[in-house]
Amino acid sequence: MSEATLVVAGVTAGYGDAPVLREVSVTAAAGTITAVLGANGAGKTTLLRAIDGSLKLSAGRVVLDGTELSGRRPEEVSRAGVAHVPEGQGVISELTVAENLRLGLLLRPRADRAAALSDIYERFAVLAKRRNLPASTLSGGERQMLVIARALATRPRVLLLDEPSLGLAPKIVSEVLDLIRRLKDEIGLTIVLVEQNARSALAIADTGLVLNLGTVVVTAPAGQLAADEALRRHYLGF
Ligand SMILES: Nc1ncnc2c1ncn2[C@@H]1O[C@H](COP(=O)(O)OP(=O)(O)O)[C@@H](O)[C@H]1O
Ligand SMILES: [Mg+2]
Repeated sequence: MSEATLVVAGVTAGYGDAPVLREVSVTAAAGTITAVLGANGAGKTTLLRAIDGSLKLSAGRVVLDGTELSGRRPEEVSRAGVAHVPEGQGVISELTVAENLRLGLLLRPRADRAAALSDIYERFAVLAKRRNLPASTLSGGERQMLVIARALATRPRVLLLDEPSLGLAPKIVSEVLDLIRRLKDEIGLTIVLVEQNARSALAIADTGLVLNLGTVVVTAPAGQLAADEALRRHYLGF
């Protein structure tokens, strides 16, 4: 699968008159994990919405490997290879695991769907085992795996993840983050990982970006941010 560099350049965007994001710039290099950190309300989710086409930008651009995404509709951004896993576990409990996954395959050509599904079952043994059970029978961690798997079914090049560890027990958090790291290592996905759990996110990220009140405080190699005590205390809470 080809690797893709995502560039956010000078993006200003919000929900009405007052901008939430102000001139936010970040480059998510191909095949890396960029952790987007910051307090509640900092603008992390808004940044993912600015990337995935659901918010109109008042300034700036979003570019994927030279192709401009800004100004395109969410379906077009998705077709260009960007998958967004929103916050909260958007699994449909009444449907089986397989049916949930098939929803992720609707955008793919019919002929590719069976192969895509078997790829997923190969990577996610738990989902394969439970494919015919209702999603309501899955644990919190398994549901998070299911929404990530469903996003992968579209064969994205860029994966946007909004707080995938939210509400999970610590042991499950590390399983989910480990999965995210493997998606980078094994598929070469470019990943933008929004997390409140800054310590864990920086442990698997290549680059960290700290947002505060909609502006970028700092962008630096993840190890450097994790080692900066003042920054950790002020913005990262660990
Ligand atoms: N749909 C919305 N309409 C208006 N304001 C919003 C909406 N969603 C978020 N906001 C505001 O935008 C700011 C950033 O929110 P958000 O991006 O969700 O932050 P984070 O994900 O970092 O917690 C907050 O002040 C929030 O109140
Ligand atoms: Mg959020």
